[in-house]
Amino acid sequence: MNRIGVLTSGGDAPGMNTAIRAVVRSADARGAETWAFEDGYTGLIEGRGRVISPRDVGDILHRGGTVLRTARCPEMRTPSGLTAALSSLEESAVEGLIVIGGDGSMRGAHALAGEGVAVVGIPASIDNDIWGTKMSLGVDSALNTIMEAIDKLRDTASSHKRAFLIETMGAGSGFLAGMAGVICGAELVVTPDTDVTVEEIGRIVARAHQRGKHHCFVIVAEGADLDVEGIAGHLRSSGIGFESRVTKLGHVQRGGSPSAFDRMLASRMGIEATNALLDGHSDVMTGLDGWNVALADLGEACSRVKRAGMEYVTMASLLSR
Ligand code: F6P
Repeated sequence: MNRIGVLTSGGDAPGMNTAIRAVVRSADARGAETWAFEDGYTGLIEGRGRVISPRDVGDILHRGGTVLRTARCPEMRTPSGLTAALSSLEESAVEGLIVIGGDGSMRGAHALAGEGVAVVGIPASIDNDIWGTKMSLGVDSALNTIMEAIDKLRDTASSHKRAFLIETMGAGSGFLAGMAGVICGAELVVTPDTDVTVEEIGRIVARAHQRGKHHCFVIVAEGADLDVEGIAGHLRSSGIGFESRVTKLGHVQRGGSPSAFDRMLASRMGIEATNALLDGHSDVMTGLDGWNVALADLGEACSRVKRAGMEYVTMASLLSR
């Protein structure tokens, strides 16, 4: 291949820039030029792209967001969107494409592969809900952001003897809430996989107060059946000992410089994806398998659902005594 394409798509994730840099520079090392599409699949469909050189990707590996910008692109799910994307690739003389993004982006990549385009995916989403990789780009950075925020909340929570209901992002997967629960010492984690009522939450929080705790965190995943305001309302009306407050961490979780782990993972996945594409692989995705970065089948990744389950929820409860 003389020219490969790259784009970032879906919700941005720390590490996307590091991956772009790795793709461009490892393609250059093998004598291939990189064509960058802007604004995800929207830019691909509209034919908005340009050559991006190894010098153009200097000074970006530590930056959050994505220098190529990103977008949610429902049009990519339509036959006309797919046709426009295929024409755009042909017009730009792009012979293979690397898609950096979340589960929806991987589905777009798989659809392109179904039309004969050589495509390799790099999983990037703070939700960690992409099957075929233990970790996606951005998860570790988002967790570090959550940890820093909750450490700060602990200061004020302990000073006032308060219970905090904290909502994390993560769509329906439950990973961020579950892992944050373990690393931040939550009394309880509520995710789409947990089956708990507000009355039970009230009893758990009350018991923490009776054991002499000075603060209490309940971490609630967005997508869970119960929401933070509803839980707080119940706690306020049922005299659990602690005063309660709500914090929704929101989009701050998606921003910031990628962590050391994400920079390493993005660099490894960028090199692996580029080599795979140039070696003739297609319809695959880079995945972290143990400590190795391997290729996973994109069709399988798109057809399976990855959720956190109860592992972290149980760990957090065990350690909250
Ligand atoms: O997929 C990443 C994510 O941040 C989810 O955790 C969240 O549900 C969603 O994106 C928010 O999307 P948007 O930024 O489009 O509002």
